[in-house]
Amino acid sequence: MSDAAIILAVENLTKSYGGVHAVRGVSFSLRAGEILALIGPNGAGKSTCFNMLNGQITPNDGRITLLGRDTTGRAPRAVWRMGVGRTFQITATFATMTVRENVQVALASYRSRLFDMWSSTRRFARDEADALLALVGMADYAERPCGELAYGDLKRLELAIALANSPKLLLMDEPTAGMAPRERIELMRLTARIARDRAIGVLFTEHDMDVVFEHSDRILVLNRGVLIAEGLPADVRRDPQVRAIYLGEGLVYDARHREEALP
Ligand SMILES: Nc1ncnc2c1ncn2[C@@H]1O[C@H](COP(=O)(O)OP(=O)(O)O)[C@@H](O)[C@H]1O
Ligand SMILES: [Mg+2]
Repeated sequence: MSDAAIILAVENLTKSYGGVHAVRGVSFSLRAGEILALIGPNGAGKSTCFNMLNGQITPNDGRITLLGRDTTGRAPRAVWRMGVGRTFQITATFATMTVRENVQVALASYRSRLFDMWSSTRRFARDEADALLALVGMADYAERPCGELAYGDLKRLELAIALANSPKLLLMDEPTAGMAPRERIELMRLTARIARDRAIGVLFTEHDMDVVFEHSDRILVLNRGVLIAEGLPADVRRDPQVRAIYLGEGLVYDARHREEALP
């Protein structure tokens, strides 16, 4: 793992809103195939970090290097085309289209092809879409309209869509939000398996500390915009500063299925 190529390097990433320092001087790197968790209390700056990495927010300072190329301040679509996949906090699929069509749209978009549901291009990348659906265990749902899917299945579809641009880096801001504990574990297990098979680096955040500690290779802890700890799960778990913050939030790491209070 430690020999794998660095795919993402972040230096001194900084963003403030008026007087609020949402993210201050954050630096870290991420290697191919590595599962890195970004945790911290509500308002710590996690989403701001994700949104700077995916191009939605331009940092005030700092530099983002993806696969050796500077992507700081690039637009979301440009970042996506460079190999950054993402899942959304709010599910973003077309309800009336089928599961397969949603994946086809993502594949077509990556190839800069228009996806026209009513013409022969409807066949575009059908096999590839089915392969992605099989990968996330959704092959049997290909013909169903998205609007009919259970929430957990929608989340798996989102993962398939996030893989449509063959990402080197996957950004997942609370990918399991709203899911039951059992489903959260399954989604993260699936994500970790795919990421390791394909040497995709994953940066994710998640409220359930059991999921975080079970599935990450390394953990970054953000508090009030500042990285206060970074390391292997076992080391972060013991860190007094981290414990103080989380105990203050009413969260105990070792308890099974205790969750941080959602906003
Ligand atoms: N668009 C915005 N305008 C003003 N303040 C913001 C904005 N986005 C985030 N913030 C503030 O920045 C801080 C970090 O927010 P956020 O990145 O959403 O934290 P997290 O995802 O860790 O809960 C919070 O204090 C939040 O209120
Ligand atoms: Mg957030």
